[in-house]
Amino acid sequence: MNIALIGYGKMGQAIEDLALRRGHTITCKISSKNLQEFNPRVIQWADVAIEFSTPESAFANIATCLEAGVPVVSGTTGWLQRKEEIDRLCLSKNGAFLYASNFSIGVNIFFEINKRLAELMNKYEVYDVDVCEIHHTAKLDKPSGTAISLANDIIQRLERKKVWTISPPADNNSRSLYIDCIRKDPAPGTHTVRYTSEIDDITITHTAHSRLGFAKGAILAAEYLADKKGVFDMKDVLAI
Ligand SMILES: NC(=O)c1ccc[n+]([C@@H]2O[C@H](COP(=O)([O-])OP(=O)(O)OC[C@H]3O[C@@H](n4cnc5c(N)ncnc54)[C@H](OP(=O)(O)O)[C@@H]3O)[C@@H](O)[C@H]2O)c1
Repeated sequence: MNIALIGYGKMGQAIEDLALRRGHTITCKISSKNLQEFNPRVIQWADVAIEFSTPESAFANIATCLEAGVPVVSGTTGWLQRKEEIDRLCLSKNGAFLYASNFSIGVNIFFEINKRLAELMNKYEVYDVDVCEIHHTAKLDKPSGTAISLANDIIQRLERKKVWTISPPADNNSRSLYIDCIRKDPAPGTHTVRYTSEIDDITITHTAHSRLGFAKGAILAAEYLADKKGVFDMKDVLAI
């Protein structure tokens, strides 16, 4: 498969390494230093584009690929307020787009456990809940895209939580779901969902030990998407 890498930082390089080992070809590598090469003529050689760039550039990058008729897998966080626009553009161009706030297979299983736990906890109002995410200090966005996905999945299932917030709530059992964002070095990416009561606590945690899991998931997603039309997510790739 021919892959265009849009964004060639830590993730782009990890994906290149693994993609070459799986027998794929990298047709272009775009960073802020060679943006002039990022045009429809160059990227249409690719069967699929994998986009891990910056919150500021992701929307335009994805739109450029879709306009050029190239399926796009994106993992960039911090731009999701415009995802619906991209979904509409994808459908109007009869293109293919797959977004995941986290490509690791383990995290996607964790997402499903989080949803089930929230369903179970909905009727047990003695438990309050919060989400905690810990990342290295170079991470640009806050909260992490993964923490936002966890929080939204809880809010959809737990009637006592209506919105998420990164400001500590004034009282326990607030209608806001608190996301505690901790930045420190070194820090493996860690996400915890905590249900707490006076009697006991229930905690689920996912810890990422390396970028390899994200890179592997992104390549699996690209292999899945190359011959598809429509808007997809990791649940489609992993069939969970
Ligand atoms: N979904 C997931 O599973 C997952 C996992 C890890 C990370 N992420 C997210 O993926 C994104 C990238 O992470 P990273 O660790 O690879 O960051 P990074 O190391 O900072 O790399 C960002 C890359 O984007 C390039 N870039 C800057 N402006 C650009 C533009 N206008 N068009 C195209 N590329 C541009 C940068 O170029 P220069 O180096 O020249 O500035 C760099 O190559 C972040 O949003 C991060 O939160 C998601």
